[in-house]
Amino acid sequence: TRCWVIIPAAGTGQRMRAALPKQYLPLLGRSVLEHSLSHFMSRQDIAGIIVALAPDDSYWPALEFLGKSSIRCVAGGPERAVSVRNALRELAQLAAPDDWVLVHDAARPCLRASDLDNLLDTLHEHPIGGILAIPVRDTLKRVSAEGVIADTVVREGLWLAQTPQMFRLAMLAEALDQAFTFGHPVTDEASAMELAGHVPCVVEGHSDNLKITRPEDLPLAEFLLSGLNC
Ligand code: CTP
Ligand code: MG
Repeated sequence: TRCWVIIPAAGTGQRMRAALPKQYLPLLGRSVLEHSLSHFMSRQDIAGIIVALAPDDSYWPALEFLGKSSIRCVAGGPERAVSVRNALRELAQLAAPDDWVLVHDAARPCLRASDLDNLLDTLHEHPIGGILAIPVRDTLKRVSAEGVIADTVVREGLWLAQTPQMFRLAMLAEALDQAFTFGHPVTDEASAMELAGHVPCVVEGHSDNLKITRPEDLPLAEFLLSGLNC
């Protein structure tokens, strides 16, 4: 079985409130998206990469980096899950049903190579697949619409889902289609797999693998990247 990568990069980054989509903001001299791609490029164990871009994306053509011509692009959709589904349809032309697909957010540029290695090593013989995640550290509060505490959520057993999320191609495509058919909201690949009755595995990662979401995440990502790359 081969291993493929899908990078959903078709979002508009509303919470970042920047002049351009957050995947194109600069981090240490290159875009967030280039950093996120770089973890998978020139790896012998990755057969190919597909990026889902907004249909009106004018930033991708302006990027210049080594290996760009080997990356396939597809049009993303109005939701992340639709972007992923479009990329899966493209991948179905190239890959075998049992091949692995790693879906990794364009907005996660600080993935550790050791966490990626660990995910691949842990899951490579798994029938379903799984995700990187980290245990929740803080005390969780449910807050009412009025901005006061409604209750405290027991933290035990709660984890934060990250990406990459690694699943068998045909199973994931089917699970996503099923979720769309039933109108279930799908915020990550694992949730679609769960709805389909599969039990995804969890591999513990690190908090470095943050999803760039708000302006204050950028300097933190720069700090983390400067440590990761040396
Ligand atoms: N994404 C996508 N297609 C969409 C929405 C999101 O491919 N229709 C991608 C984003 O580009 C990002 C990843 O999914 O790499 C995670 O989504 P998120 O962090 O929510 O990014 P945005 O949707 O762009 O940000 P926001 O929710 O703040 O608008
Ligand atoms: Mg979003």
